[in-house]
Amino acid sequence: MMLRLRRFNHLLLIFLAVDQARTGISRADFQTNAILATNALMKWYNHDNGLWNTTGWWNSANCVTTLADLTLANPQIDVVTREVWRNTYEKAQNHKLQQTRISTYDFESREPSARMARRRTQSETVTEPKDFLNGFYDDEGWWALAWIKVYDVTKMDDMLRVATIVFDDIVETGSNATCGGIWWDRDQTYEAAIANELYFSVAAHLANRMPNRQYYLDSAKDQWDWLQRSGMINEDGNVNDGLNRDCENNNGIVWSYNQGVILGALVELYKAEPKNEYIRKARRIADAAISKLSDDEGILHDRREPNLGNDGDQFKGIFMRNLRVLYNVTKDQRYRRFIENNADAVWNRARDVKSDLIGPVWSGPFIRASAATQSSGLDVLVAAAFIQE
Ligand SMILES: *[C@@H]1O[C@H](CO)[C@@H](O)[C@H](O)[C@H]1NC(C)=O
Ligand SMILES: *[C@@H]1O[C@H](CO)[C@@H](O)[C@H](O)[C@H]1NC(C)=O
Ligand SMILES: *[C@@H]1O[C@H](CO)[C@@H](O)[C@H](O)[C@H]1NC(C)=O
Repeated sequence: MMLRLRRFNHLLLIFLAVDQARTGISRADFQTNAILATNALMKWYNHDNGLWNTTGWWNSANCVTTLADLTLANPQIDVVTREVWRNTYEKAQNHKLQQTRISTYDFESREPSARMARRRTQSETVTEPKDFLNGFYDDEGWWALAWIKVYDVTKMDDMLRVATIVFDDIVETGSNATCGGIWWDRDQTYEAAIANELYFSVAAHLANRMPNRQYYLDSAKDQWDWLQRSGMINEDGNVNDGLNRDCENNNGIVWSYNQGVILGALVELYKAEPKNEYIRKARRIADAAISKLSDDEGILHDRREPNLGNDGDQFKGIFMRNLRVLYNVTKDQRYRRFIENNADAVWNRARDVKSDLIGPVWSGPFIRASAATQSSGLDVLVAAAFIQE
């Protein structure tokens, strides 16, 4: 297995060569670009712990998710990606998790620094995150979604099982937060939009995959009802970072990923219960995000670029991955153009041409890269490749 993993790049290039010979696609093709960007991402893959060097615990879950999307678009690379998932599934949950996650979350709360300090302290105490549980419900949610997507590709039951364990952990230890919804963390310090959206998305995904679908469907619907009442979605249709202690919208930064996860959740809920209202609400959030977060050339940005920290470096790809899912049900050509335009920018403006590394600012120029900026850029290339089919 190690041998095969080490040869990952090589194998992908062979697939690429075969593909090119068969279809005659050019290097400009999004599919090709996605594979080249994956080769660059895999140079950071650490076989010993199943995680990607240069980035954090939750980011690696997003790398897994992106690889699964890439595999759905290119089923022939499954023989390679499957080994990566097997390795990560086994090693990562036995890994001594000593991350010091410096949060880039920003909200006008009274004690943001206290919250950050707390996060760091608690992260350090989590060793061996068995079943991908570490007491932060956003991190747990990312891993659940990653393994659900891997399940969609591989049909390996363990992957779905671990997602249900995460779901149970959130329900049993994180629910009934003061303002309703779920807590961000086991220490109950904050009610973040991201953890609540991820919980909604995991519930909706499980409803479409588990035998006891009604239980998950009810959870997803309750959570969606709550999200709408919570005040986290502002008048413009943007999702802010979370709630303050008085259970009001905290006016935190409108991060792109908070506008994305909810789209994927609503589409999944729509699949379980086809009510047009779900898609209508998703479109409103997507439109509001595109309007708020893109520049004059239609390129997506997060506030504070390029100083996004390791968390923020991941965000934009998450929005694009989920917008693609919404595009698939709406076929709204504006979404298609937005995705393709950003995929172009990632490749032609944000990339270092020698290494195929992708930077954190999609309008360019390339400044630096990590597995977070790389997998984030990869997300939009994969989204564009899906649409191209
Ligand atoms: C990842 O980091 C570890 C620890 O610094 C190092 O030993 C290993 O060679 C690195 N692996 C890759 C693929 O970068
Ligand atoms: C949340 O409240 C419900 C209903 O009162 C209760 O059954 C459940 O045990 C509570 N869960 C937690 C984690 O407090
Ligand atoms: C797009 O939607 C169709 C119809 O619902 C579904 O069969 C297909 O799997 C979806 N494709 C992707 C790439 O999500």
